Amino acid sequence: MAMLCMSITPSLTTPPTSTATVEVNKAKQVKSRVLILGATGRVGGSTALALSKLSPDLQLLLGGRNKDKGESMVATIGANSEFAQVNIDDAKSLEAILSDVDLVVHTAGPFQQAEKCSVLEAAIRTQTAYMDVCDDTSYAFRAKSYMDKAVAANIPAITTAGIYPGVSNVMAAELVRAARSENKGEPQRLRFYYYTAGSGGAGPTILATSFLLLGEEVVAYNKGKRIELKPYTGKLNIDFGKGIGKKDVYLLNLPEVKSTHEILGVPTVSARFGTAPFFWNWGMVAMTKLFPMEFLRDRNKVQQLVKLFDPSVRVVDGISGERVSMRVDLECSDGRHTLGLYSHKKLSVSVGVSTAAFALAILEGSTQPGVWFPEEPEGIAVEAREVLLQRASQGTINFVMNKAPWMVETDPKEVILGIYV
Ligand SMILES: NC(=O)c1ccc[n+]([C@@H]2O[C@H](COP(=O)([O-])OP(=O)(O)OC[C@H]3O[C@@H](n4cnc5c(N)ncnc54)[C@H](OP(=O)(O)O)[C@@H]3O)[C@@H](O)[C@H]2O)c1
Repeated sequence: MAMLCMSITPSLTTPPTSTATVEVNKAKQVKSRVLILGATGRVGGSTALALSKLSPDLQLLLGGRNKDKGESMVATIGANSEFAQVNIDDAKSLEAILSDVDLVVHTAGPFQQAEKCSVLEAAIRTQTAYMDVCDDTSYAFRAKSYMDKAVAANIPAITTAGIYPGVSNVMAAELVRAARSENKGEPQRLRFYYYTAGSGGAGPTILATSFLLLGEEVVAYNKGKRIELKPYTGKLNIDFGKGIGKKDVYLLNLPEVKSTHEILGVPTVSARFGTAPFFWNWGMVAMTKLFPMEFLRDRNKVQQLVKLFDPSVRVVDGISGERVSMRVDLECSDGRHTLGLYSHKKLSVSVGVSTAAFALAILEGSTQPGVWFPEEPEGIAVEAREVLLQRASQGTINFVMNKAPWMVETDPKEVILGIYV
């Protein structure tokens, strides 16, 4: 592994809040090499673009299987980027590339139903810092089980470090920290609400991800008790504030529910997701009724479904746009209710700046050796959270933290009823 340190160009970043942070960044004025796996895809490509803007001195290695797509991405990113042809299933070639980089950013999903954490294993073997944008509970907790090996290899690693999960976990951690530091009541209920128009301008992999998630029972927590619910049920109409408005959201099995329940110690946690136009939500509900769960868990069958649906998804995407919004709500025992809200016009851009914000935090030394979730202070140090959120919220149409719901909702008088987890 090459030396883990980097330079940040202050003019292109949101100014860090403390002079201490600036000094730390200045002290690390050495070029780092970052490998982005899946860089020919939407999330990886967007991450590469964001990293090249935030920190132009970084050397970016754009990893993927397809040379033509890779070279076209190099042409987009420009100087300081090169293509690396690699298949993540080929451990030998993966290790050869990893041995010459400081950090690997794994975006080559889908993570659902993947049998191994092969990239993390290779990162440990080559002593390379690691992060992924995994959005699957089994994969994320399997990654977490490599904790001792990562500590022994002395590598920092973060799993689920994208926009959601990722930035949403850090928002939740900050809401909980603020509530506890005011000592006014214990956090009792944490709810993640996500909205993305269309497929969010995303690739076929995200479509596959969504279908595979419909094949999983939803894990949520109610007063400390683990409960299992049917996917795409439990509809709520949630106000995402200015630029987004009210949207229907449904239960999905997402890793941040389990990780924040365990790590932040909040007894009731759930996550809901909704899309637009409304008939896509109906389509998702219909899929849970039409297809047996085993079918929706089969990656090959789901890939066939994706091929079938992809052309119509692209057409609707052209009309629906790709707005994205995350609302994280925390309720405490004293009745205190606070939220964080993040809305952006383009998922394809915001996922890149969010993932890049995690990559920069790791390169800056915010992460301890081990495998961490974003909400763990050993993953993203508490004092590094503010800079991370500032970077990740670049270009948002609305970003607020620690506000009461009535301060951000479009119709403050309306009360949301029927919330059960
Ligand atoms: N946490 C979050 O916030 C978040 C948000 C959005 C998406 N995601 C996850 O991010 C992942 C990527 O989504 P996306 O929209 O970017 O998908 P995408 O556009 O299809 O890109 C995936 C890329 O991975 C590469 N790839 C796939 N298999 C590979 C292999 N065996 N070896 C090397 N490269 C491989 C592909 O490159 P080639 O075909 O060129 O090899 C492709 O460019 C998904 O799993 C999704 O669930 C997470």
